[in-house]
Amino acid sequence: MCGIVGYIGKNKAEDVLILGLKNLEYRGYDSSGIALTDNNNIEIIKSVGKIKNLEEKLKNINLDKYNIGLAHTRWATHGEANLVNAHPHSSGNVVIVHNGIIENAKELKASLINEGIKFNSETDTEVVAALINKYLDNDIIKTLSKVIGIIKGSYALGIMIKNIPDKLYVIKKDSPLVIGIGKDENFFASDICAINMFTNKFVFLEDNDIAEISKDKINYYSNGNKVDKKVDTIDIDVNSKSKNGYPHYMLKEINEEPMVLEKTLKPYLEDFSSIPDLKGYDEIHIVACGSAMYAGMIGKTLFEEKANTKAICEVASEYRYKNNIYNNKTLVILISQSGETADTIAALKKAKEQGQDTLAIVNVKTSTIARLADKVVFIEAGEEIAVATTKAYLLQVAIISLLALKLAYSKKLIDNIDNYIAEFRNIPKLVKNVIDRENEYKKIAKKIKDSENIFFIGRRYDYAMCLEGSLKLKEVSYIHSEAYPSGELKHGTISLIDDKIFVFCILTDEELCEKSISNIIEVESRGAKTVIISRKSLKQNRNLEICVDDVSQFVISLLVVPILQLIAYHTAVNRGCDVDKPKNLAKSVTVE
Ligand code: F6R
Repeated sequence: MCGIVGYIGKNKAEDVLILGLKNLEYRGYDSSGIALTDNNNIEIIKSVGKIKNLEEKLKNINLDKYNIGLAHTRWATHGEANLVNAHPHSSGNVVIVHNGIIENAKELKASLINEGIKFNSETDTEVVAALINKYLDNDIIKTLSKVIGIIKGSYALGIMIKNIPDKLYVIKKDSPLVIGIGKDENFFASDICAINMFTNKFVFLEDNDIAEISKDKINYYSNGNKVDKKVDTIDIDVNSKSKNGYPHYMLKEINEEPMVLEKTLKPYLEDFSSIPDLKGYDEIHIVACGSAMYAGMIGKTLFEEKANTKAICEVASEYRYKNNIYNNKTLVILISQSGETADTIAALKKAKEQGQDTLAIVNVKTSTIARLADKVVFIEAGEEIAVATTKAYLLQVAIISLLALKLAYSKKLIDNIDNYIAEFRNIPKLVKNVIDRENEYKKIAKKIKDSENIFFIGRRYDYAMCLEGSLKLKEVSYIHSEAYPSGELKHGTISLIDDKIFVFCILTDEELCEKSISNIIEVESRGAKTVIISRKSLKQNRNLEICVDDVSQFVISLLVVPILQLIAYHTAVNRGCDVDKPKNLAKSVTVE
């Protein structure tokens, strides 16, 4: 998704901004641009494609004198990914960069066109630039407050005004924006990682805030009134960006899974009482997007099957608009690696507005979700850079499984808790063993690499793993794949099965093993080539069979999913895909 970064200070703005943009690259983008100013002039340079294309253009221009600037990576929403639509956008004396979506841009644009204002691009952002320019007044805070009252949607906006060369302005609603405070220099960005190499002092803006940023002073306004803001000191390991010798971040991050599992689980296993006890709740709603939602589905199944507690798991983009019925004492659990996913934030706000208790499982400690939820359980994934989540997903599963274990124990539905704790303790080692068998998965990846369609089938827990395996495979390798509950195949999908199709069959749910075996036989008898992941070998001379350790249902998915991640990874590599940055995808989905 779009990323913005701004700088005002004593150093060459170009260098600061380009480094900032590079650190925002992981979010996904298709063009980039920069606006620089000294006291007289504003230079705007943009480029389509990778940031190195922008750097090429900048090489030919002497930009040494510019100490103030805005920069942007664009992930196209309104208008195609071309030079005209790339940010920054300008109108009259106003130059802006924007992350978010202006929902009433169409109507606003029509009325501005009626007033004779000309537009160059198809973007919603240019409409905001025109609006700020229209209401430009000596009192910029008044101007921006007026514009905040007019525009609808989500935005983090960085603003430069021609006749005010020594200040930058930012406004924010429903899109993340952080200010970085330096010595005789200040920064802002949509993500702390764009500026944390320059400072460790940050201010997180709230919705409808305005900041007026000079190099040695920042004024904050909320609803037009000057306010003070809390400055947080946050030290972040800026060396986590290295690939440590791996060819891709995705592979590096999968290999980090044993280590981050150990780090995340250790405090809870040492002190079981520190795991939140959900016994007071009759019902659990788990809300998230994408892989985080699929992690939630494993949790939902555990809450129901092991802790006898009603649970639903929903996609945040649906939950935020639904009539969610809270009859009982309900806990809403939000799961998010970034903590900035727009739909998950909206679902969290809605649950809070409706008076529900909220608990977030989050990786990024400084994120919006971490700050808004009533309770937070952090996963310790460290920075996850590959767009496709791997280690963070696994930790989300580990934490929600621990929550289910604790609930089952509190409700006296299990007694041998020490055995389960010992099993969780052993998990990092077992995951390492799984990853060490990479060559087996490479062989499977080679076999499936030319497929056009792949299916994943499983029941209950296994179906939840299938959903994640299928998503991982399709997003990085671009092979179409679908996950189905095994029993549902006969209701239509089986017509697609023939001898060209690979079907991944996950078979770890012991109670349903026999049922799932008959589904495997069904697809095999229609020619499908099956890849079976199970606890025990089915001993039918299948060469595409992987067995995992016979552990409890609370932890088995932690052993199965790394296999699926590695198969997806090697399939994508075999097909020559951009594994860490699949096309059209963004790491942090900060717009609806
Ligand atoms: C898939 C993937 C996405 C994210 C989803 C939620 O590999 O990474 O499906 O899981 O966009 O993101 P977070 O967890 O940041 O809310």
